[in-house]
Amino acid sequence: MIRVTFIVDGEEKVVQFEPAALEYRRHGRPGSLLDVALNFDIPLEHACGGNCACTTCHIIVRQGMSNLSDMEDEEADRLDTAWDVTPDSRLACQAIVKGDLVCELP
Ligand code: FES
Repeated sequence: MIRVTFIVDGEEKVVQFEPAALEYRRHGRPGSLLDVALNFDIPLEHACGGNCACTTCHIIVRQGMSNLSDMEDEEADRLDTAWDVTPDSRLACQAIVKGDLVCELP
């Protein structure tokens, strides 16, 4: 069971799921943070539909960065264009969840 905490407007929303049982919601990479958020009705914007073509799904990882898939060049290039990017930033549609983590929607 994986546990992900989303911090939305300062409020923590905790979700737990079995990766194999997660239903793909057709936006972003299967099993990505965006996919998890959509499964649990977390209001995570995704203007490009999860295609790594905008930065509206920008999130900041507060704990558990090593529990996300490695960042690929396409994500890094896109993230460079995001507003207020930090060393702990990721694009939720590209980062696949592999273990527990805490992230904040900026
Ligand atoms: Fe557009 Fe993630 S939804 S880059």
